[in-house]
Amino acid sequence: MKPKILAIDDEEGMRELLRANLTRKGYQVTAAKDAEEAFASLQSQLFDLVITDLRMPGLSGEALVQKLKKENPSLPVVVISAFGSTKSVVDVIKNGAEDYLPKPFTPEDLEVVVYKALEKRRLLEENERLRRELSGPSGTQGLQGRSKAMRDVLGLLERLAPSDATVLITGESGTGKELAARAIHQWSPRAKGPFVEVNSGSLPATLFEAELFGARKGAYTGANEDRPGLFQAAQGGTLFLDEVGEVPLESQAKLLRALETHEVKPLGETRNQKVDVRVVAATNQDLQKLVEAGKFRKDLFFRLSVLPVILPPLRERLEDLPLLSQSFLIRFAPKGGQPKKISQEALKALLSHSWPGNVRELRNVLERAALLSRDEELQPEDFLFAPTAGGGLPGGTYHDAKHSLLEAFERQYLADALRASGGNVSKAAQNSGLAREQFHRMMEKMGLKSADFRKR
Ligand SMILES: Nc1ncnc2c1ncn2[C@@H]1O[C@H](COP(=O)(O)OP(=O)(O)OP(=O)(O)O)[C@@H](O)[C@H]1O
Ligand SMILES: [Mg+2]
Repeated sequence: MKPKILAIDDEEGMRELLRANLTRKGYQVTAAKDAEEAFASLQSQLFDLVITDLRMPGLSGEALVQKLKKENPSLPVVVISAFGSTKSVVDVIKNGAEDYLPKPFTPEDLEVVVYKALEKRRLLEENERLRRELSGPSGTQGLQGRSKAMRDVLGLLERLAPSDATVLITGESGTGKELAARAIHQWSPRAKGPFVEVNSGSLPATLFEAELFGARKGAYTGANEDRPGLFQAAQGGTLFLDEVGEVPLESQAKLLRALETHEVKPLGETRNQKVDVRVVAATNQDLQKLVEAGKFRKDLFFRLSVLPVILPPLRERLEDLPLLSQSFLIRFAPKGGQPKKISQEALKALLSHSWPGNVRELRNVLERAALLSRDEELQPEDFLFAPTAGGGLPGGTYHDAKHSLLEAFERQYLADALRASGGNVSKAAQNSGLAREQFHRMMEKMGLKSADFRKR
């Protein structure tokens, strides 16, 4: 598709010059002789760029830019200025024009300015699209991956989403189980209903049951009032039972009953309540092994694993790593700024890591690197892998290795402290037990800026 350009100038000769040159460069050009004609064209067609003269009878170029930007903020505008009238050029740029072209100009000048403005817009749109894809309620729910394994998972999720059947999602930590559960919900007819998350871990049976099924006042010590359970809260929606392997053994029979009958009984209540809830469970444990060890009921296991979804570890689908990395870097780019790139060497380093923490670890490694690196392109030194990963010591002489490790530690420490304090240097210094001046000096040495740590 040829980019469409609207060229506005009151002089016939200039309009023809613009049209001829831009058409030759492969653009599709519509010419207008004044603001009125221009706005008429804008009503009926979508343009990628506007080029306009500043000095025109009727609505001036300045007013035109202002109006254009107000009605269509993302449409780039380039102004042509006749006499080096610096003041009005400054004004229109302030009003949102992308660039300006002083008269007289060569075809090359024109080409460069147009190309730059279109390219800038293309990049912004691309970033915006990816950002939406990552966080928005559409697309793949942020579940990225083009590997065969990941496409199979996405296809499966899509197929089982519409039913009300219980789903069991398994996979190592950080493989995207929660994202998958949310995708099932979003793609189901229950998408408008609630998505309620239960963390099954670390609660004693009574409290777990009260949390899940609700409790009447006085049902157990500490139950000072009636409280609804998460099953009730998920009415009409989806209940996400995370870490289902940790559901207390004593509570598992009740959970199984709820799954089978779609009824729950709050603690201290005599009657059952109907619930219309779809359950999606997840675990990073091997439930089969838990069953064998007598820690998980076999009948509940069978009931849950009717529709199993297995998320593959990252190391088994490394072909997804470049795409995942790119989208994380876009997500972590400063607002309106460019995302960092990854050098060839750095990509190699990422590909040879074993990723015990899977996609979450990749995300963390890149977030840190993007925040701390001063260059446009990330290098292998910018990555700090979790210490458990093994093989993580820098090479070189003893002195160099020690130095780079210390420097990495210092950066990481300062960055974490700043992140925790939301960019407040005094607070970060205080929490670190360092004098503010010293903390600040260290930050400067590392090129860290407090502004980068304020919540965005
Ligand atoms: N396929 C993917 N595409 C994009 N981001 C992903 C993908 N898988 C995981 N992530 C990201 O990795 C992080 C961890 O994902 P998630 O919380 O879904 O993992 P999990 O399997 O539930 O982990 P855990 O077992 O530790 O709870 C999140 O930030 C998530 O956005
Ligand atoms: Mg999880």
